[in-house]
Amino acid sequence: MKIFVTGGAGYIGSICVEELLNAGHEVTVFDNLSEGHRAALDPRAEFFEGNLDNPGEITTALAKSGALAVMHFAANALVGESMTNPVKYFRNNVTGGLHLLEAMVSCGVKKIVFSSTCATFGTPDRVPIDESLPQRPINPYGESKLMFEQMLRWFDEIHGVKYVVLRYFNAAGASARFGEDHRIETHLIPNILKVALGQKKDVSIFGTDYPTPDGTCIRDYIHILDLAQAHMLALSATDSAKYNLGTGGGTSVREVIATCEKVTGRSIPVVEQPRRSGDPARLIASSDKIHRELGWTPKFQAIEPIIESAWKWHLAHPHGYQGN
Ligand code: UFG
Repeated sequence: MKIFVTGGAGYIGSICVEELLNAGHEVTVFDNLSEGHRAALDPRAEFFEGNLDNPGEITTALAKSGALAVMHFAANALVGESMTNPVKYFRNNVTGGLHLLEAMVSCGVKKIVFSSTCATFGTPDRVPIDESLPQRPINPYGESKLMFEQMLRWFDEIHGVKYVVLRYFNAAGASARFGEDHRIETHLIPNILKVALGQKKDVSIFGTDYPTPDGTCIRDYIHILDLAQAHMLALSATDSAKYNLGTGGGTSVREVIATCEKVTGRSIPVVEQPRRSGDPARLIASSDKIHRELGWTPKFQAIEPIIESAWKWHLAHPHGYQGN
């Protein structure tokens, strides 16, 4: 199938593009390279450098691609930044997304797989988080993703655009070629691995007084290749649907650090800091629905092999994509 991928030079997008190509699909990547990297573009894909804030550019690229489906990864995704610059999040994630939907309607493309997030749930009343829980985002990032989810319903009802929303929990790990390299790195695992590489002297633990067994936040880390498989299955779904995507297991910040020490064989000095604002204590997915309906089962259930794959990539790319 011909597939149009926005944000295909970013962390999650690049690895999904690689897997789509490995499965025999034809891919056009649309990316402005503001967060993504030229070196993360799979050379087998067509590349169109463009901006979601330019409806004409998207429509031209989409029409030229001949795509039957869109995968929409392009977005800003930093919770903290969204709390200081909400305009950026609503402009790029909502208005930019709307331009994409408009282009899909005008080109007659009837299928979209959307990268959403557990941040649309805010602080959940219970875990694991299934799709029936109320979505009450606590930051503009989560709100912007929820707004796009809501728009999808109307584009389905009015224009017959079928959607699959995939709400990722904490994406982690790497493929053999592509990995995680953000220009501003706020995520836990890459920050720990930078310490292991000797590029940072310690890692901060944000909050040690959470109501969890060791006092640090618990997250559901899901391997990027398992995420990519879910996207592949989503392409074959005939009905519109929304799915939560995680392993169903939780790992605390201290457990992630201990596993990184084990995997890298290097000690990771930590500095205990106050809580980071907007961090819920525990986010764990129930992925029963996607398992039941699309047959998705994550291959990586434990944190150690996920970190091993990330470490391998960081060792091979100690400065990320810089210089590639
Ligand atoms: N953390 C630290 N030290 C760090 C970085 C993070 O202790 O240096 C803690 C955080 O406070 C949090 C946990 O490690 O408790 C994981 O933090 P990440 O920043 O790696 O990821 P988040 O859980 O904040 O991820 C959230 C949502 C995702 C969303 C992402 C956007 O769960 O769905 O923010 O960046 F995509």
